[in-house]
Amino acid sequence: MDNRLKITSITTWIAGAIAIAMTILLPLGYFSISYQYLSGSLEAEAEIVSNIVAELINSNPDLWQFEKMRLEELLARRMRFNREETIRIFDSKNKLVAERDKPLKRPLMTRRFDLLDSGSTVGKLEISCSLVPLLLRSGFAALLGLFGGLIIFITLRILPLRSVEQAEKTLWETNRLLEEKNREIETAYSELKATQVQLLQRDKMASIGQLAAGVAHEINNPIGFVNSNLCTLEKYVAKIIDFISAQGEKLTSCATSATLAELSGKRKSLKIDYVLEDMKHLISESLDGTSRVQKIVQDLKTFSRNDTGADSLIDVNTCLESTINMVWNEIKYKATLQRDFGELPQLKFNPQQLNQVFINLLINATHAIDKDGTITVRSRFEDGLIRVAISDTGCGIPEDIRAKIFEPFFTTKEVGKGTGLGLSISFGIIKKHGGEIEVTSEVGKGTTFTVLVPVSAE
Ligand SMILES: Nc1ncnc2c1ncn2[C@@H]1O[C@H](COP(=O)(O)OP(=O)(O)OP(=O)(O)O)[C@@H](O)[C@H]1O
Ligand SMILES: [Mg+2]
Repeated sequence: MDNRLKITSITTWIAGAIAIAMTILLPLGYFSISYQYLSGSLEAEAEIVSNIVAELINSNPDLWQFEKMRLEELLARRMRFNREETIRIFDSKNKLVAERDKPLKRPLMTRRFDLLDSGSTVGKLEISCSLVPLLLRSGFAALLGLFGGLIIFITLRILPLRSVEQAEKTLWETNRLLEEKNREIETAYSELKATQVQLLQRDKMASIGQLAAGVAHEINNPIGFVNSNLCTLEKYVAKIIDFISAQGEKLTSCATSATLAELSGKRKSLKIDYVLEDMKHLISESLDGTSRVQKIVQDLKTFSRNDTGADSLIDVNTCLESTINMVWNEIKYKATLQRDFGELPQLKFNPQQLNQVFINLLINATHAIDKDGTITVRSRFEDGLIRVAISDTGCGIPEDIRAKIFEPFFTTKEVGKGTGLGLSISFGIIKKHGGEIEVTSEVGKGTTFTVLVPVSAE
């Protein structure tokens, strides 16, 4: 912009100077040349007329002053076309002898010439013409000069600017293209980085998945037969209880009172009634436990299923439930969990990836809580979006790091507890499905991460 101003002021000065010079010099030059020409022509005319008049003086040297009529006729014959002139003849005492008078507008140009008779001056011839036509023509020349000056001014003032503007435009365009290319490179670079991070995380998840699959497989078999045995045991215990009560009834009718008293004492001392009752509870509790273990094994199997990332129609609430089951062991010592699930449509999403997002958010929430906290998981379907909000009453995220938490490898956790990949991976997964992750947080009060996924996008 500075250069533009500089060029503008330089061209303005040059153009202005040329325009002024043209406006002044053209009429001045025209005037001075025309003035000289007029003056020369007037002098020549005066000389010619005075020579003619001299002839008349020579023919009558004593009385020529009284030949007014002949002199004026002579002057009338010299009258030229297109020239407004006044010619006067004076005698030696400067008395007007004859004239050819024309009304002339002032200013005038006057030239005098001596009238000679045998070498001595006997009178004067005076010839005048008006300068008005010359001045008018000079004025017209001034106008032409002004007009030409203006054209030169405009041309010199605008043309360089146009070319500067053109050059600037080209420069801006080149700059814009460069910036665009730069942005493309930056985007490609961050995509590359994100892909690298995803690959790393995928590797990590794959090994965790393999481990989980192995553990799940190992647990699945023993827990299967423990569960089946417990079911059989439950039936056996019911039969034994049945048999013991039948046996008791029979003994009451046929045994002696001493035997009955002894058996009753033994039954009491061994708390057989309590044992029989408690056996049923123990078996049903154990069955409860084994079915929970089976559920966790099932979740582990779902999580570790070697899926290449294919999407399928899933129920997000079910997905949340199975994620909660998986991380329950982490949560239960630190926080109570509140579910607030709304009715949701089916969502086309990769279930493992959605699990991965929820696991990370739930684990982060748990890590943020010191003790006795609350984690609330809320799901809703609004405006074509499924919203899952995971809120905690933990430490909150300080303002100065809030912008960085989605960056790969950003973590505030000690070595071994966090890699700083969780949120960046989660963000990448949700973004890939056209969704968003929003954060609101207040230091000391807690944080809410809201996952928004469009249902129509898939
Ligand atoms: N609910 C939360 N409350 C407070 N801080 C949080 C919460 N969630 C995330 N953060 C902050 O964001 C950082 C990045 O989280 P992210 O999940 O990406 O990595 P991480 O949990 O540190 O490690 P990783 O998930 O890879 O094991 C965390 O280290 C933590 O400082
Ligand atoms: Mg994390």
